[in-house]
Amino acid sequence: MEQNKKTIFSGMQPTGAITLGNYLGALKNWTTLQEEYNCLYCIVDMHAITVRQNPAELRKNARNLLIQYIAAGLDPTKNIIYYQSQVSGHAELGWILNCFTYMGELNRMTQFKDKSKKHADNINAGLYTYPALMAADILLFNTDLVPVGHDQKQHLELTRDIAMRFNTIYGDTFTIPDPYIGKVGAKIMDLQEPTNKMSKSAEDKNATILLTDKPDEILKKFKRAVTDNFANIKYDVENQPGISNLISIYSAITNKTYDEIENEFAGKGYGDFKVEVAQAVIETLKPIQQKYDELQKDKAYIDNIIKENTEKANYKAQKILRKVQKKIGFPPIIR
Ligand code: AMP
Ligand code: TRP
Repeated sequence: MEQNKKTIFSGMQPTGAITLGNYLGALKNWTTLQEEYNCLYCIVDMHAITVRQNPAELRKNARNLLIQYIAAGLDPTKNIIYYQSQVSGHAELGWILNCFTYMGELNRMTQFKDKSKKHADNINAGLYTYPALMAADILLFNTDLVPVGHDQKQHLELTRDIAMRFNTIYGDTFTIPDPYIGKVGAKIMDLQEPTNKMSKSAEDKNATILLTDKPDEILKKFKRAVTDNFANIKYDVENQPGISNLISIYSAITNKTYDEIENEFAGKGYGDFKVEVAQAVIETLKPIQQKYDELQKDKAYIDNIIKENTEKANYKAQKILRKVQKKIGFPPIIR
């Protein structure tokens, strides 16, 4: 890790196979940043348990997600890729930042409101204070930039507020992080209900494209994607959310602008367009899937990556954590 480069931190929850939304909204951008920045990409398993998880599945999902990070193009020698639960600084700073986060702020978080509705039988304190832990994830490494999808913007604003509050009281401690939200792909929608974001936890299997979906599944899902009766390939989220979503997927993959796509498909039917989008997605995912299958077979290699990266992350985390502990008045460690 080079001294003069800025730091990037981001993470995903290991709550199931990742979706095309996760890929286009976050992971794809991550792979373009690895040369220019010092990057840490975390598997946020501590966040995942704010919703009840099956232990064996959580463990499997966490490892699969780590392998997907690498398969998608994150070089594990250039990026620090690790499990949140294995770097105890997250929990320790998380507690501290809980004491600098107001209930009024947490009450406003839309993800909390959404998840409380969805899991009405388990509205636990962790779900509520989730944003303070997320702030700790980011601030623990003096992060400059956080590449996320649009849905995480509110959490990031809160992170900035918490950091500034702390700095005002104790003097310059934390770097104030900026969000990095891609221009296209930041909000990929559900294929069946295109006014909702595409989510790992969707009940309808046709609603989401998973990174591990086979070509015929991908084609089938796009063919079934909900559109409209306008028979016009036009980016118009208000009136044509389904078609607009397909355009934004196609744009994120091909780097073509919405205008270019509208011109290219002017006068063509939705059926043709859906097949084109599906093909583009299939081609993009093919090399990722091949790499994923190969990496799954190499247990020793993956284990070694986990071991080395966890050590690096712990080392960095401890440095900032000690600084914070000192500032707030915790006694020094006597060696
Ligand atoms: P999560 O699946 O909630 O852990 O999200 C991991 C990352 O993917 C975050 O940066 C999200 O903002 C991003 N993300 C999740 N769903 C979508 C989506 N439908 N469109 C774009 N980005 C997304
Ligand atoms: N809250 C994020 C999500 O649901 C995941 C996350 C946890 C995260 N900690 C983070 C993302 C820190 C970026 C930086 O997608």
